[in-house]
Amino acid sequence: MIKVITYGTFDLFHEGHYRLLQRAKALGDYLIVGVTTEKYDMERGKLNVVDSLVTRIENVRKTGFADEIIIEDATGQKVSDVQKHHIDIFTVGSDWTGMFDYMKDYCKVVYLERTKNISSTMLREQNKRIQKIGIIGTGRIANRFVPEVKLVSGISVQGVYNPNFESAKQFAEKWEIECYDDRDAFYQDIDAVYIAVPHQYHCEYIKSALEHGKHVLCEKPMVLRKKQAEDFFLYAKEHGLVLCEAIKTAYCPGFEKLLGIACSGMIGSIQYVDVCFTKLEDKTSRELTDCKYGGSFTELGSYCLLPVIKLFGKEYKDIRFDVIRGQNGLDIFTKASLVYEKGIATATCGLGVKSEGRLLVAGTQGYIVAEAPWWKTTYFEVHYEDPGQVDKYSERFLGEGLRYEIKDFLNTINGIDKSEFKLTRGESVVMAEIMEKFLEQENRGVEEP
Ligand code: CTP
Repeated sequence: MIKVITYGTFDLFHEGHYRLLQRAKALGDYLIVGVTTEKYDMERGKLNVVDSLVTRIENVRKTGFADEIIIEDATGQKVSDVQKHHIDIFTVGSDWTGMFDYMKDYCKVVYLERTKNISSTMLREQNKRIQKIGIIGTGRIANRFVPEVKLVSGISVQGVYNPNFESAKQFAEKWEIECYDDRDAFYQDIDAVYIAVPHQYHCEYIKSALEHGKHVLCEKPMVLRKKQAEDFFLYAKEHGLVLCEAIKTAYCPGFEKLLGIACSGMIGSIQYVDVCFTKLEDKTSRELTDCKYGGSFTELGSYCLLPVIKLFGKEYKDIRFDVIRGQNGLDIFTKASLVYEKGIATATCGLGVKSEGRLLVAGTQGYIVAEAPWWKTTYFEVHYEDPGQVDKYSERFLGEGLRYEIKDFLNTINGIDKSEFKLTRGESVVMAEIMEKFLEQENRGVEEP
């Protein structure tokens, strides 16, 4: 008996898939089809799969060509599958020609000609209208955003708006997008905006974007007053618009995994969270010279508050801030200490003091530690009383990591609302509340707009 194996995502099952399976089956007597899991697709950067694993398996099964269906969950699995199942022929479509030649050490490799003019990518794009996003701001983060959008299908960058038109023009030329100096014209051409301007302007742009009926993805800290956050979320909800705070860590797979393990009981009940993020900035930078909106906490505090709020919740009993100030009075280092019913937390951040960036979650049975850059979580360890026992976890974090938040933002717009739990509206409101308390303590309270 000749055994054949093939693999694929088989998303939005189409004729190309059908013809591939038909020919794969014809190569032998017994066909095994490996269907990729969501986790594996995420890991290899395929972030746009629409159908669930169950649907994709069901569609493969319905063709009647597969004698057995297995799941593909990890890189390197193919070699062990071929050995385990005593496979004679490994086959995939010709878009993979050459890429699986290494399998020739284990079995025969056949590349079947790909069916022309059809692919899951094409169908995804036909099914969904491409969401056009406009960028407000032309700084460092906006420059990171554009190439990341290109990696998420179903969304494209239409253009950029900046009141400084020269800067918008340069940005637009660099990324080959439109530039606008007229806000109405900008809003007319887009479905959603990404706001990447200094914090103090967020409010004004969120307001105008929502009023123009646009979905909003806004850099952190989204706003600096609790009431503003509540009002914007309410307005967005009432008008069927999506408003998301862009804290990339919240959406990255490694961080999600860390939270899952922390909450699983593996380290017992969580008692203490200690988190630190420092990034030395130039003394002349906006972050260290803007005496009203600059400083360490407004710049980095959102990252540090994220694990605290995710693990202990929104209801803290007490919060205090201890601050080291630079000559101009701005905080170059801040420690926020939070007391909860169930534990305590410290969140430290600095632009003018360097410290060890680390996320530590301590429980009654053990602790989790992720070193810097824990905010782009790729690796963490779980330690126990017995120092010899250490569990190690790693997860991929691709590129700048913005693609994860962009994908979740898009899914929410498209009604595939599976990601809201990653950073809820309530959590963003608490972040704004804490920012507000901090600025009040610093006598830099933010007025009503
Ligand atoms: N395939 C094919 N002809 C097509 C599309 C896919 O023969 N027109 C084959 C692929 O080469 C692969 C299998 O079907 O062996 C599963 O491919 P998959 O990646 O799931 O499908 P695509 O349509 O290529 O998906 P995407 O656009 O997401 O890459």
